[in-house]
Order: sequence, then C-alpha cells, then structure tokens
Amino acid sequence: MKLSPSILSANFANLAEEVKAVEGVAHFLHFDVMDGHFVPNLTFGPLVVNALRRCSSLPFDIHLMIERPALYAPRFQVGPEDVITFHVEAKDPQEAIQVIRRLGCKVGISLKPGTPLSAIKPYLAQVDWVLVMSVEPGFGGQKFMPEALDRIRKLRKLIGARPVTIAVDGGINPGNVRQVVEAGAEVIVAGSAVFGAPDPRAAAEKLIQASHA
Ligand code: DX5
Ligand code: ZN
Repeated sequence: MKLSPSILSANFANLAEEVKAVEGVAHFLHFDVMDGHFVPNLTFGPLVVNALRRCSSLPFDIHLMIERPALYAPRFQVGPEDVITFHVEAKDPQEAIQVIRRLGCKVGISLKPGTPLSAIKPYLAQVDWVLVMSVEPGFGGQKFMPEALDRIRKLRKLIGARPVTIAVDGGINPGNVRQVVEAGAEVIVAGSAVFGAPDPRAAAEKLIQASHA
C-alpha cells in the first residue's frame, strides 16, 4: 500500500513543517483543492500547492474538487511523478483528461459515492488513476462509507489488466485500512488519521503498519 496523507487536516498556520513531518514515510502528498461550487467548501489553489514544492520531495497527488478542472489544472506545476485528479461529475471530463495529459503528469479521475461506476467506464482507457471517494467530498474527518469496499472490488474487475492505480479517499484509519487494501486499493488517502494526530509521522507509520497487519 502507498500512503497519501491529505493536508486538509494539517495545521494551516504551519504547513511547511507539517509537510516535512511525513517526508520519508508517506509516498505522496494529497491536496484537496475545493472551489465552493463543486463542493460546499473552499480550501486553497495553485499558489499554496506550488509553494509547498520547496518543502517536500514527495510526488504531489492533487485532488481537484472544482467545477472547471480543464481551466485550472494548468496552473499547477507538475512532473511525471505527480497526479492531477478531477471529478467525472465536473464540467467536460474529456477536455480535462486532454488538458491534464498535456501537462505531463498522471491523469486521475474520481467519483462521488452516489455516482455509478459506469460513469467513469468511458474514460478508463485514458486515465492512470481512479480515486474512489469513501465519503461525500468536501470535508475531512467524516465516517468511512462501507459501500466503498464493494465498489473497489467492482472497479478492480472493471480495470482488468489495464495499468490503472486505485486510490481511496475518506474516513480511512488504522481500524479499517486493511479492509480497504484487501478490497483492492493501492493508494490510501488519509487526512485526520495522519495530520489530526499529535505526531503525524508516527500516525503515518502506524497506518502503513496496520494496512498489512
Ligand atoms: C474530502 C477529501 C479528503 C479528506 C480526507 O473531500 O477529499 O481527501 O481530506 O480526510 P479524512 O481522512 O479525514 O476523511
Ligand atoms: Zn481528497
């Protein structure tokens, strides 16, 4: 399992130190970009994400919960190790894929818990990564929706032999991470379980341990 801690639950008054704390333990850093339209919350955008490059050598996993991904994706500085994920429910998924692909990073697609898996089927051959939401997007610290487990298993089958990574986001903690990985998740996003803990580095280690315990 690879761990992608979400800074949404970090101390925003000290982001640089928070990000450094998980260096060498985490495999990605997850950034929840929200526009107040696609989800009922506002967070941060490219200015903050790009600035944090100076504090981390981890690949960036940028989760766009925004209405117009094709318009804003080019504002993020990315390389081949990074991934930009947009939502299939947002405007013009096909254009988003083309725009993100041209940036030279990995292309991720995500879907809300209420969106049928069939919605991403037409795009599966064009993406590198699928982010399964196991909470309603918008806020950290929500409870894991157990229906996500079945969805991960179905997605695994749908992907077949294609080189597509399954990431899962929302409500994951040391108590349920193993189930999520056993269902087929390769990347685990965790916000409150890492940055909500008093020692984020130890919490990240614990989560990785629990995934194969
Ligand atoms: C929710 C975000 C998540 C969130 C996860 O909209 O996409 O990445 O930070 O936080 P936890 O792990 O606390 O559910
Ligand atoms: Zn996220």
